[in-house]
Amino acid sequence: MGRENFGSKIGAVLAAAGSAVGLGNIWRFPIETAENGGAAFIVVYIMCIAVLGLPIMISEFMIGRYTHSNTAAAYRILSNGSPWKWVGRLGVFIGWFIMCYYVVVGAWTMHYAFLSATNAFHEVSAKEYGSIFDNFVQDPWIPTLWLLVFIGIIHCVITRGVRSGIEKSSKLMMPTLFVITVALAICSVSLPGASKGIEFLLQPDWSKVDSSVVLNAMGQAFYSLSLGMGCLCTYASYFDKNTPLAKSALNVSFIDSTIAIMAGFIIFPSIFNIGMNPTEIGAGAGLTFVSLPNVFQQALGGGSLLAVIFSTLFYFLLFFAAITSAISLHEVATAYVTEEFSLSRKKGAALVTLSVLVLGTVCSLSFGPLSGITLFDRNIFSLFDDFSGRILLPISGFLISIFAGWVLDRKLYHAEVTNGGKLKAPYFRVLVFALCYLAPIAIGLVFLDQIGVFDTIMALF
Ligand code: PFF
Repeated sequence: MGRENFGSKIGAVLAAAGSAVGLGNIWRFPIETAENGGAAFIVVYIMCIAVLGLPIMISEFMIGRYTHSNTAAAYRILSNGSPWKWVGRLGVFIGWFIMCYYVVVGAWTMHYAFLSATNAFHEVSAKEYGSIFDNFVQDPWIPTLWLLVFIGIIHCVITRGVRSGIEKSSKLMMPTLFVITVALAICSVSLPGASKGIEFLLQPDWSKVDSSVVLNAMGQAFYSLSLGMGCLCTYASYFDKNTPLAKSALNVSFIDSTIAIMAGFIIFPSIFNIGMNPTEIGAGAGLTFVSLPNVFQQALGGGSLLAVIFSTLFYFLLFFAAITSAISLHEVATAYVTEEFSLSRKKGAALVTLSVLVLGTVCSLSFGPLSGITLFDRNIFSLFDDFSGRILLPISGFLISIFAGWVLDRKLYHAEVTNGGKLKAPYFRVLVFALCYLAPIAIGLVFLDQIGVFDTIMALF
C-alpha cells in the first residue's frame, strides 16, 4: 500500500501547528514573558524563532518531505550509512519519551474541564485550590481513568490514518482552539482593571534581558515549535511535493507565537482584575491547576454562568492544545514502528499506545502511590520532563542543526526548499549560515545552561 499524504496544504500546516501549539504556549510562555521583561522578552523570543527556530524547522520539513519516511529511516537514507543515522532514532526516542509524561497533563486538563463544567469550583475558597489539585493528582484512580480516555482519543485519531485521522482532527481542533483563544482573550481584556495586565505584559523592560533570559527564550522557542524530536519531520513526510516548505514553516511559527502571546492576554488581565500579584501565581501545573481556577472564579463571579463557561473553555483550550501535540508525538513513534518492523498501522499504533499507557500510568502514579520513587529529589514525572527537556532535546537539536548545515548535500537542500526550482529562495544563504553557525552555537549554549554549567562557573567567582 502507498504511503498516505496530507490532502491539502492548509491541512498540512494545521497539523504541524497542532503539534507546535501545546501546553508550552499556555502554561509557560506567558509566565516567561511576565518574568523576563514583558514585550522585551517577546522581541527576543521572536528573534530566536527567526534565527534558530525557522532554519531548523525548514530543515526538519526538508528531511521528512524528501525521504517520505519515518524519522529514523529519513536520517538513515540521508546519512549514507554514517553514524548520523542515529540522530533520527534519537528523535523518535525523544518524541516517545516526552509523550509518556505529556499525556499525564493532557489527562489533567480533561478533569479540570469536567470540574469547571459541573461548577465544582462554586464556593471553593482561595486556599482550597492547592489541596484540590494535590488530592486529585495523588489519587490512584481518577487521573489514571482520565489518562485512559486521553490516550484512547489519541489512539482513535492515529488508527484512522493521516488524512482521516490527523488531518481531519487538526482541521477541526485548530480553528476551534483559535476561536476559544480569541473569545477568552476578549473577555479577559474587557474585565475592569485589565489594562494594568496588558501594560504589564506589553511594557518592555530591557533591563531584565540578560544572557540567561536569551537562553530561556531559545529553549522556549525550541520546545514550543516541537523541534528536535521527529514530529515535524514525520509530518513533513506526508507533505506533497508542492507544499512550500519555508512558507509553511513561517505559517506554523506565526500561529504558534500568536497563540502564545494571546494566552498572555487571557491570563494577566484576569490576574490584575482580582488584584493579585503576578509574581505569586507560579508557573506550569501550579499556575494552571491551582492559581487560575481561583482567578477565573474571582474575576468572573464565583459559581456564575460566565465563570463556568470561561473556565470550561479555558481547560478545553488546554485540552485541544495538548491533544494535538500528543497526537504528533504518537505519530512519530507509530510511523517508526509500522515502517521499520513492517507492521500494519493498527498493530503499530496499538503497540505505541500500549507502551504509553504503561509508562504514562507510571508517570501519573508518581504523584501518588509511586511518589516514594525519586532521584535527585524528583519524582518519575519530573525526571521524564527534565531529562527530555533539559538534556535530550538540546542534544538532538544541536545534532540536527549540524547535520542540516554541514552534512546534508547543499544542492539537494536547495532543490527541496525550492520545490525543484519552482520557488525562489533568496533566503537560502542566510538559512545555511544560521544552520552552520548560529543554531549550533545557540543550542550548545542552551544545553550548557540547562545542565547548570554557567551557574557552576558563576558560583566560582
Ligand atoms: N510544542 C509543544 C508545546 O509547546 O507544548 C510541546 C511538544 C509537542 C514538544 C510535540 C515536542 C513535540 F514533539
